[in-house]
Amino acid sequence: MCGIVGYVGFRRAADLIVEGLRRLEYRGYDSAGLAFLDDDCQIGVRKAAGRLSRLEAIVRDDIPDGSIGIGHTRWATHGAPTDENAHPHLGGCTGSASASVAVVHNGVIENFRPLKTRLESEGYAFRSETDSEVIAHLIDSCLKRTLAAGSRLTDEPADSPWVMAVREAIAQLRGTYGLLVLFSGQPDLLVAARLGSPLVIGVCDNEHFIASDSSPLAGHADRIVYLADHEVAVVTADSLRVIHRDSGRIEHSVQPLDITVSDVGMGGFAHYMLKEIHEQPETIRSAMRGRLSRDDATAVFGGLNLTPSQLQHVNRIVLTGCGTSWHAALVGEYLIEEFARLPVEVEYASELRYRNPPIDEGTLLFAITQSGETADTLAALREIKRKGHPTLAICNVVGSTIANEADGGVYLHAGPEIGVASTKAFTSQCVVLALLALYFGRLRHMSYEKGLEYIAALERLPDLVAETLEADATIRAIAEKYRDASTFLYLGRQYNFPVALEGALKLKEISYIHAEGYPAAEMKHGPIALVDPSTPSVFLIPRGGVYDKVILNLEEIKARRGPVIAIASPEDERVRELADDVIEVPDAPSFLQPIVEAIPLQLLAYHIAVLRGCDVDKPRNLAKSVTVE
Ligand code: G6P
Repeated sequence: MCGIVGYVGFRRAADLIVEGLRRLEYRGYDSAGLAFLDDDCQIGVRKAAGRLSRLEAIVRDDIPDGSIGIGHTRWATHGAPTDENAHPHLGGCTGSASASVAVVHNGVIENFRPLKTRLESEGYAFRSETDSEVIAHLIDSCLKRTLAAGSRLTDEPADSPWVMAVREAIAQLRGTYGLLVLFSGQPDLLVAARLGSPLVIGVCDNEHFIASDSSPLAGHADRIVYLADHEVAVVTADSLRVIHRDSGRIEHSVQPLDITVSDVGMGGFAHYMLKEIHEQPETIRSAMRGRLSRDDATAVFGGLNLTPSQLQHVNRIVLTGCGTSWHAALVGEYLIEEFARLPVEVEYASELRYRNPPIDEGTLLFAITQSGETADTLAALREIKRKGHPTLAICNVVGSTIANEADGGVYLHAGPEIGVASTKAFTSQCVVLALLALYFGRLRHMSYEKGLEYIAALERLPDLVAETLEADATIRAIAEKYRDASTFLYLGRQYNFPVALEGALKLKEISYIHAEGYPAAEMKHGPIALVDPSTPSVFLIPRGGVYDKVILNLEEIKARRGPVIAIASPEDERVRELADDVIEVPDAPSFLQPIVEAIPLQLLAYHIAVLRGCDVDKPRNLAKSVTVE
């Protein structure tokens, strides 16, 4: 959701900003813009509703030359996706030539209405319907004061009137912000501020990048600084100072940047989603790397940050998340309850944050999130933490807000996931949850021998996933056959029930076909009314414990002439006779089936979406990282 890119250095800022915004497209957006300083050090703005290509076309004809600028991709919250509502917003002006500041903003300003009324009474004219525009005028209003007060023009940029104006302005904001500010007449100064909406700074010799995540930095910067809440960064081409909004300058830590251009490129695939689906044998390996101990027949984690005694006393686990991460949590519930014999509750983060569930001392919360920035998941984590309970994160993005705020956690190490529809993060989340089930199981009842068997099964998993990917051509042919269906059912039982939900979600997200996931037997209590020759049902029916039961459910669909696509074990003649189409997946132990079975469902959704001409990496209305409630 919304992306920010800024640059100050010696290269042409507009090129770098547009390239950076391209890399942030995956977050979801509906307009884009950039601001720069012209030859007279006045602010210029280019912005356009719609895809980034529209902005690129405008910029291409008249490319600004300056070496400082800020850019934004906006996902509409307050006001429609129009040119006027696109960022950057200007402060203190009626025409851009006289503007004193340009601002790009991620987040939501809750008190924008009273601020707007006040600023209007001071004579400010608003051009947009956004909450963000108030920030620009507010900074201008503060700047008039700090300049008039003759704020010290010292060598210390952090004390300059421009920085003081930003600090004064943000002290008046309620809500969340990741902000980047460009000032007219200041060709070597950007000011960034963060509260609840991430910002990172890419550090390089004589140039700095500021962005809402690290992908625009790849290939340009070799070091990264993660800005924390309430911090303000004062950035020039060759200096970076970080100050606390209220208490002044602080030491910031500079870390190596570990993503490369190939991590954020498509690597020869037609879409990021397809690339990420095919990366799964490797990302699953990464999620396990260094975390399996044959000596102790258990999993090993470096970052749980809880004492063995605290972990021993855990008697209940709450798993929370949103979207695909919530589906992974459901898989985790089956895994942890079966292998660790610990009661698990799975909660939508958006519900948990406002619920008041009884939580006792032995409860441990895991927030599951690819991005580490989902607003509801963050709020749920904060709520449980506020009550004094330990919180851990299962997260992909290193240095993200949730990773930082949790007491500890486990990284997925899946590399950047750019396709909006989550694929490799889901399977890695399931792997980490399987590792946790092993870990808690071995702390409690699981025998050494069982632990070793479990590890051996996990070690085979990347190869099983690679084998599953070989079904791609079959899946594409099946996609051709069903591409025009208007409703799909996805049915599975036990471990495969959450995968049915996830398969339906994938199809919905990227092909805009209505799809519902259900426990296969529950289908009789409603969804079966939808079954007719035009409504395909995707059955997850590998050999295993409930196989015969699922066969019964499949027959119930066939009796109503519903077409069936079965995801089944190799050479299963019974399924072959009953189903219209079969996708074979290798045999896997039940507890790993969700990971293997997810792959054909991702591919099916992908191919149907491509055949229907949908924008699979950037589906309409969706955002990769949902930073609003
Ligand atoms: C958005 C994305 C989904 C994702 C969900 C939770 O809706 O489009 O793919 O599953 O957010 O995101 P998280 O980053 O917390 O896993």
